[in-house]
This record gives sequence, C-alpha cells and structure tokens, in this order.
Amino acid sequence: MTSALFDLTGKTALVTGSHRGLGFAMARELGRAGARVVISSNEPAGCEAARREIADEGVDVLSIPCDVGVDAELDRLVAETEAGFGPIDILVCNAGINPHFGSLTEATDDEYDAIMRINLRSVVQLCNRVIPGMAKRKDGAVILTSSLSGLRGNGKIGVYALSKAAIAQLARNYAVEFGPDNVRVNAISPGLIDTEFSKPMTGNPDILAPRILKTPLRRVGKPEDIAGAAVYLASPAGAFVTGHNLVVDGGTVIGD
Ligand SMILES: NC(=O)c1ccc[n+]([C@@H]2O[C@H](COP(=O)([O-])OP(=O)(O)OC[C@H]3O[C@@H](n4cnc5c(N)ncnc54)[C@H](OP(=O)(O)O)[C@@H]3O)[C@@H](O)[C@H]2O)c1
Repeated sequence: MTSALFDLTGKTALVTGSHRGLGFAMARELGRAGARVVISSNEPAGCEAARREIADEGVDVLSIPCDVGVDAELDRLVAETEAGFGPIDILVCNAGINPHFGSLTEATDDEYDAIMRINLRSVVQLCNRVIPGMAKRKDGAVILTSSLSGLRGNGKIGVYALSKAAIAQLARNYAVEFGPDNVRVNAISPGLIDTEFSKPMTGNPDILAPRILKTPLRRVGKPEDIAGAAVYLASPAGAFVTGHNLVVDGGTVIGD
C-alpha cells in the first residue's frame, strides 16, 4: 500500500524528455505512485516503447511525441494531454540537450541558441501554457530539471551550465508568483547520472575517476536515484516545499 504522503492517484503528470534516461525513470515512478502519465520526446518510436514498458506495469499512460523547441508542438502536447487525461496536475520539464562540450569561447551561436531554446525557452513556454490552469484550479506541482553544473563554475559545459542555472531561478520566480494559488514549482539538480546524455563524461576515465573520488557516495547516479525526488516534490509529502533546488548528486557539491 502506498503511503498517503506519496499517493498520486487521480493526478495527471506530463513529463518531457521521458522516452529514456531521467525522464523515463521519473515518469515510471510517478505512474507507480498512482498518476496517469504522458510520455513525450522527439522520438515517436522511443516514446511508444517507453509507453508500453510503463503500461505493462498497469499504469495509465499515453505517448505524445513533441519537439519542445517548437511552440505549436507545445500547444498540441498540452491539448492532447488534456484531451486524453484531463487537466495537468504535475508538469515535469525535463527535456535537455548539450551539443557543446569544450571552451565557452568556442561555442558557436547555433550551439548557444539550441541550448537556450531547448533547455530554457521551451521550459518557459510550456510552463506558461500549463501553470495558469493550475493556478485557476488552486493546485499544481511543477518540477524543472536543472543541474549540479548550474551551481558551480564550469570549464567544459559553460553554456549548458548557464541554461541550467537559469532553470533554478525560473523555479524560484514561478514559485513566488504562483505560490498564492497553491502551485508549487521546484527544481531538481542531478549530479552525474548514467544516461546517454552523460556518456561524454562517464565514458572518459580522465573525467570519471576524479569525479567519483570527489563524490562522497563514490559512484555515478542511476536514473532511479532522481525518480524518488520527483515523486516527493509532486506529492503531498512535498506540500510545503516550493522554489527549492533539490540537489541529488551523491554529495559531490558538498565534498572537499
Ligand atoms: N545525466 C546527467 O548526468 C544529468 C545531470 C544533470 C542534469 N541532467 C538533465 O537531465 C535531463 C534529462 O537528461 P538525461 O540524462 O536523461 O539524458 P537523455 O537520456 O539524453 O534524455 C534527454 C531527453 O530529452 C529529450 N529531448 C531532447 N531534445 C528534445 C526536444 N527538442 N524535444 C523533445 N524532447 C527532447 C530526449 O528525447 P529525444 O532523444 O527524442 O530528443 C530525451 O528523451 C536533461 O535536462 C539534462 O540536462 C542530466
């Protein structure tokens, strides 16, 4: 039996970037806690595979592929989610990219624009389409995937870190504006988690070994390590938490 504190029965959750990685783990766990779940990413086949895997566990789940960088696609994503499952109670803005790894001075304009468009602008656009409805209903939980990189100076993924620092600020801004309407908005800042996205780091021993040594729990994270944090922030257990940036990093940021 699920504790009432973590029970999401009757809630509708939309999770972007959820055909794999952190998004998939969060979507699956929100479903296991009782929510109806919408899986979404660029890739229709990947979304459908993820949908089937979660549906096999008995979760009510839809796949709605969408490029979050295109505003009309976001309109469709919201409309189809509401048509399928009703109003969105839980929004997880998780889709993210990092096409530039290297000096900040060498990031091209195209790379900068792509990072900001997907990691930041799309989040503002989607939140602006969903949060006002939550505010009217006086209930909503929004979770934005930020990053540990947004909390520290960074020599290799500087543009990405800039976009993720802005995401934590965005959570605080929305939290202040919509807290009076009982809409809670929080960020999660994962440390290094083993996914496709992090392969340039996890696949490079010169980066991985020192990172693990500086991480008190002495390991890379798993997507499941982030999923529980999402359930907590979405559920009654997190009812008094808003504007927070929850760091889930095995202790990397507090290490010596
Ligand atoms: N892994 C880490 O160490 C780590 C650490 C801190 C923060 N993060 C953040 O966590 C989030 C998830 O990353 P992950 O590690 O799980 O990586 P991932 O496996 O590469 O997942 C990224 C997801 O975002 C989707 N996506 C990318 N561009 C999109 C677009 N234009 N429209 C719709 N969906 C799009 C991808 O779908 P498609 O393949 O279909 O494009 C994929 O489902 C990202 O925001 C990332 O910045 C990751």
